[in-house]
Amino acid sequence: MLDWNAYDGDVDDFVEDSSARADKSSMRPATAPSEPVRPISVPPMRPTQTDAPVSEMTDLPPSVVAFERATPASSNNSLERVTVDQKRMINCRADLNQLVPFKYQWAWQKYLDGCANHWMPQEINMTEDVKLWNSSDGLSEDERTIVKRSLGFFSTADSLVANNLVLAVYRLITNPECRQYLLRQAFEEAIHTHAYQYCIESLRMDEGEIFNMYHEVPSVARKASWALKYTRAISDPTFVTGTPETDAELLRNLIAYYCVMEGMFFYCGFTQILSMGQRNKMTGTSEQFQYILRDESMHVNFGIDVINQIKAENPDIWSDEMQACASDMIVDGTNLEIEYARDTMPRGVLGMNANIMEEYLQFIANRRLAQIGLSERFPGARNPFPWMSEIMDLKKEKNFFETRVIEYQTGGALNWD
Ligand SMILES: [Fe+2]
Ligand SMILES: [Fe+2]
Repeated sequence: MLDWNAYDGDVDDFVEDSSARADKSSMRPATAPSEPVRPISVPPMRPTQTDAPVSEMTDLPPSVVAFERATPASSNNSLERVTVDQKRMINCRADLNQLVPFKYQWAWQKYLDGCANHWMPQEINMTEDVKLWNSSDGLSEDERTIVKRSLGFFSTADSLVANNLVLAVYRLITNPECRQYLLRQAFEEAIHTHAYQYCIESLRMDEGEIFNMYHEVPSVARKASWALKYTRAISDPTFVTGTPETDAELLRNLIAYYCVMEGMFFYCGFTQILSMGQRNKMTGTSEQFQYILRDESMHVNFGIDVINQIKAENPDIWSDEMQACASDMIVDGTNLEIEYARDTMPRGVLGMNANIMEEYLQFIANRRLAQIGLSERFPGARNPFPWMSEIMDLKKEKNFFETRVIEYQTGGALNWD
């Protein structure tokens, strides 16, 4: 059984703490003009409440101290103008509220690209899917299993990714343009969860069965459990980076989520559903997955850029030991995804089988390893699904999605005439 409560309690405490402070300082009027003025007794103010950085106040909850350390400029450097040279991916001491000047132009560009690709699940027509799903001879049992397992894994996996971003990664990435993209990515993860919920509701599936697969179906639960393991330490509100050990812990989390969770665990299910769409089955669900895949390929590219930037700025943490650990993590994730492929495809289905999927996943693993500067672990693995690469290729995707992208870009513009 997985423990989702690990994400919730501490963060609620933090929100209550910070809002309570704001209320006390700003909501109360100095005097009420219509009432007679009465002498009041004002207790002496403790110097630490006004003069010291929050991180030095000893009576604050650990969550507030951790927040202060993750946003160092809020008390120490807020009057300084930030220069590009001061900006760093982690452990930055410059003001994090100043978006410009940009140091990582690629991060800002990905934010703009993400906004230009905005979409919503309700725009996709699910009528044909509902008809096919409800017809007695529309899909084989193996095809129905694939649809249910995919929605079962993804409906909670995207929440897991979003929680890791919002409750753990965001405060530890100390760069405003990357944080801007992380906020965009977090909203996209919400849209993805919405899309899965929309499919599940449209098909009138048993919601309890689907949303509990990450507890109840071993091949799904093992993937979720593997990812959760890498968020536990850094989602502790008292966790801070700044030592080789804690910096490495954050780097392991980024590799787990960007290279494995989003970069590997999504690929068997995506390939299966898109293959179904190519055969003119479950075309609405398949279209939802195509939009999601386009977003996910950008998430992975962003994460890999962040990982490589952290490596470049902190070469000491990219030790031989860390490289071996990262390589093993990607191989572990690949093996879990191969297990998932065997569970969801006990026989050949949709023109593929578990052995072909295994080679595809090994091909993806080699790419992930190479993208972060590591040697391939599956020499000779080839891509048996070149059509998947075509869908993910951003230029081709832009053509594929051209109409909708242009609708958003013009429909969302302000008209001053
Ligand atoms: Fe997602
Ligand atoms: Fe994602």
